Amino acid sequence: MPVVKGIDVLQKAHKGNYAVGAFNFNNMETLQAILEGASDLSAPVIVEASEGALAYAGVTTLVAMVTSLTAAYPIPVVLHLDHGKDFKVIMAALRAGFTSVMIDASFYPYEENVAQTKRVVDIAHAMDVSVEAELGKLKGIEDNVAVEERDATLINPKQAVDFISKTGIDYLAPAVGTSHGAFKYKGDSKIDFDRLREVKQLTGCPLVLHGASGVPRSLVEKAQKYGADLKGAKGVTDDVLKEAVSNGINKVNTDTDLRIATLGAIREVLTKQPDVIDPRKILGPAREAMKEVVKSRIQLLGSAGKA
Ligand code: G3H
Ligand code: 13P
Ligand code: ZN
Repeated sequence: MPVVKGIDVLQKAHKGNYAVGAFNFNNMETLQAILEGASDLSAPVIVEASEGALAYAGVTTLVAMVTSLTAAYPIPVVLHLDHGKDFKVIMAALRAGFTSVMIDASFYPYEENVAQTKRVVDIAHAMDVSVEAELGKLKGIEDNVAVEERDATLINPKQAVDFISKTGIDYLAPAVGTSHGAFKYKGDSKIDFDRLREVKQLTGCPLVLHGASGVPRSLVEKAQKYGADLKGAKGVTDDVLKEAVSNGINKVNTDTDLRIATLGAIREVLTKQPDVIDPRKILGPAREAMKEVVKSRIQLLGSAGKA
């Protein structure tokens, strides 16, 4: 299928109470793993590239890969810009054919976030492209954190209503206690579910969970077995993620789990076969490992069979 608009798959997920997997990619192997995994499960999927991914691979290369590969898969695929911060990069993604963009101005004061987000929405909507934006700061929440500190970091549900009405965004990423990377929590995995429910109830908007990787023990242990330093790695458990979806999350971002799967697979090959020189023998197992991650995430999110 040709690439589709973000809001088309996320409005369906919002109405059907499930989440669509959004997976970060920089290269052909990762993109193939995502499309193969989603297609095996007949699931809609979002392939997302960060500003760093665009700098690494080139916007034209990424768009060409996605448009040519997706044509061969019978599933809806969205091409999304993840954490767009630089207006010029967002414009380049829009011009190149992305069907969804994130403007992340969450680190600015509220009024500035509104102004920057609205500027992108006005242009993107004129080009029939969907827009995601973020409110609050992505930081893990720990036990014994003062209410005032939590309020200063996480999303304010009433402000979310004002933000959506002033900007016209299509989906919102609320900061509810997750963070990026492999070291999300010192204690237990947790999300502020009361806050998440209130945002969903007040806004009635499709919601996005950033920093959602599970950092599964099996992947961490494999990478460690072959020499990786991942001491203290911890992610969002499967139960917490499922509860987040049942409380209104419709897009779940995963990058770190793909990275750890790649790391373990490559380290294993290089350790067991020090004489290997063929990159296909190094990257092929990584692609397989990433495909398994994609499939297990999609099963958790409830989007299998929704293509
Ligand atoms: O949210 C961040 C994503 O994991 C992308 O990371 O900026 O290193 O490509 P990156
Ligand atoms: P993880 O680091 O938990 O995979 O989060 C990825 C993400 O939010 C990309 O925007
Ligand atoms: Zn993110």
